[in-house]
Amino acid sequence: MMNVHPLELIFTSGGSESNNLAIKGVFYSAQKLGRNHFITSTVEHPSVMKTFDFLKKQGAQVDYVPVNRDGEIDLEYYEKILSEKTALVSIMAANNETGTLFPIEKMCKWAHQKGALFHTDAVQTLGKLTVNLQKWDVDLASFSAHKFYGLRGCGVLFQKRGVKIESLIHGGGQERSRRAGTENILAIAALGHMSTLKDAMSEQNARLKDLRDDMEKQILSKISGVEVVCQNSKRLPNTSSLLIDGVDGETLLMNLDMHGICVSTGAACSSGSQEPSPVLRAMGLSHQEAQMTLRLSLGWENTAEEISYFVDVLQKVVDRIRNFANLQEKKIL
Ligand SMILES: Cc1ncc(COP(=O)(O)O)c(C=O)c1O
Repeated sequence: MMNVHPLELIFTSGGSESNNLAIKGVFYSAQKLGRNHFITSTVEHPSVMKTFDFLKKQGAQVDYVPVNRDGEIDLEYYEKILSEKTALVSIMAANNETGTLFPIEKMCKWAHQKGALFHTDAVQTLGKLTVNLQKWDVDLASFSAHKFYGLRGCGVLFQKRGVKIESLIHGGGQERSRRAGTENILAIAALGHMSTLKDAMSEQNARLKDLRDDMEKQILSKISGVEVVCQNSKRLPNTSSLLIDGVDGETLLMNLDMHGICVSTGAACSSGSQEPSPVLRAMGLSHQEAQMTLRLSLGWENTAEEISYFVDVLQKVVDRIRNFANLQEKKIL
């Protein structure tokens, strides 16, 4: 499924641990090589962002490559900051909020030309895109089982043969001493089973892309003042981010929930936070715009009927929220 040798895989507790292991693992081993410079992007998952925050306190020098409003990474900036001091570049393969894809193969090639290692948080890709780690030529790649219908609390770190990183959990000799602790066999077996469903996945993804594109088309034609964030960029087939003018995302989310529709206003890991999505803010959306954004993701079980129901409900709820806001503005309420 990933085009790798089984011994290149380390089973972990999930995407967050895989990211921590890759980044901290390189930090501790690169110290010996005199490389202390790290590069990441401004739109990474918190498990990457906060790991770098931690390492900065330990003396790491970290640079952040910006993205534009379409979610595209600034390759010119990236090329400029890469140097012989760079130990590791960590750039996600697909963004979890907007679904945008980054040019991993090209960025990895440039990093290697400077002697740096390349890690990708590929958590969002497995089961949604063809993942060919040999072709990408990355040194490290993180995955999470529940992102492709496996069990929660299980993940994988790909570590290319010959790449050395320090381990973070010391103890028994499990995972060839790269990650101590008794393995979560049930979850790993479930992950193995999912990897046999490769063909079913590509069929589903083609269907989901059509469903998502149709949903966006319906919404844009029926509801005014909607922007599909990153619509023209290369994206995952199942993800959609909608900026709905004049409508607070959290209010919309609660109203949709009452109709049995589950959506989010940002990443699940930041739900409950009062602050709007840092990813959208880093893309250049204003504070207010980021607060008016809804994130939708479709799964294998979603049907065209559900999409029609969703679009109908969304239209009614958006109308109601906008009317209410108008009345309040005119001091009628
Ligand atoms: C891009 C990305 N990286 C990392 C993670 C963390 O994965 P886990 O929840 O398995 O730790 C997620 C999960 O939401 C994600 O979307």
